[in-house]
Amino acid sequence: MSEHPEREIDIIDLKVRFGDFYALKGVSFYANKREFLGIIGASGAGKTTVLRVLTGQISPTAGRAYVGGHDVTKRQNLISLLVGYVPQLEHLSLYYDFSAIENAKFFGRCFGMREREIEKRARSVLEILGFDEDLMTKTVSRLSGGERKRVSICLGMIHDPPVLLLDEPTTGLDAHLRHETLNYLKELNFELGTTMVIISHDLEIVDYCTRVTLLENGRVSQFGTPADLISTLPGKGESLSLHLPNLSTWMLDQVKQIPGVEYYAQSGRNTLKLFIDNPRENMLPVIRELNSKGIPFEEISLVEADFFDYFQVKPWKRKEKTGESE
Ligand SMILES: Nc1ncnc2c1ncn2[C@@H]1O[C@H](COP(=O)(O)OP(=O)(O)OP(=O)(O)O)[C@@H](O)[C@H]1O
Ligand SMILES: [Mg+2]
Repeated sequence: MSEHPEREIDIIDLKVRFGDFYALKGVSFYANKREFLGIIGASGAGKTTVLRVLTGQISPTAGRAYVGGHDVTKRQNLISLLVGYVPQLEHLSLYYDFSAIENAKFFGRCFGMREREIEKRARSVLEILGFDEDLMTKTVSRLSGGERKRVSICLGMIHDPPVLLLDEPTTGLDAHLRHETLNYLKELNFELGTTMVIISHDLEIVDYCTRVTLLENGRVSQFGTPADLISTLPGKGESLSLHLPNLSTWMLDQVKQIPGVEYYAQSGRNTLKLFIDNPRENMLPVIRELNSKGIPFEEISLVEADFFDYFQVKPWKRKEKTGESE
């Protein structure tokens, strides 16, 4: 059993090797019950590999992984009941000539569920997902991309698992549908209490998450709540927005040299966000520096720093404070 029974997902120093290559090089993170966990990383970072361990499709080379307190390598039959899985490519799991309800019946039978039980469950999940009678009963081939995605989410939820794993549920959808899908997932999470684990290479999902794991080349580079991650920035979630009439490389060079400015992010054509400790107190000294360097600016104000800013500035690391992860 896991040492942390309150954790629905608990991954401890997980390593997965394919031949000579370690796809996961010692990954640790967790999610408590009812959380909305995002696993974010670039292509090849190891996101799908983590899910394949959690669903029992592959065995880890080293380390441990628990779902609901059970070791996934030792309780494979149980794990399939504890986790639902929504694959990245829904056409691999959906029968296009069947309706949503008929697809659900096919899937539910694999879990030994009775027909009436399946239909009741499917309807209640599809209802939360915004389906009316017409959408529930027409063939999947006549549904839109976003609707098909929701059918595939319903199939993952059919046996009422406490955990739902979703591999890039928003990839390939347009901006409106991506948010719509995330809102529906949030709704399921809220209404049914399902712990959600969502893979994405898109930072957009962060705003929906209670906790985030950032994977980089098989390692966790950051893990925490969105607020934790923001609080690691200078300014702890606040920055100075500087509006310049005409942004030039000369100005950028000058701005970088202002004492205390640790990072900057471009947040519009002529606007910079300056990351600096205590931005409130440091606004006046920054103004003095701008004046003394002869940099014309139109406006300077205290603004919030969000996740997108965080990732923009991340590559420009402070030299003296890096070195921990490498
Ligand atoms: N069965 C396998 N054999 C060999 N290498 C593999 C295997 N599965 C995955 N890999 C490698 O492990 C690394 C991580 O793969 P993974 O599928 O977990 O990435 P990912 O983060 O999901 O990427 P993407 O965003 O492209 O889906 C990649 O470099 C991949 O080539
Ligand atoms: Mg993947």
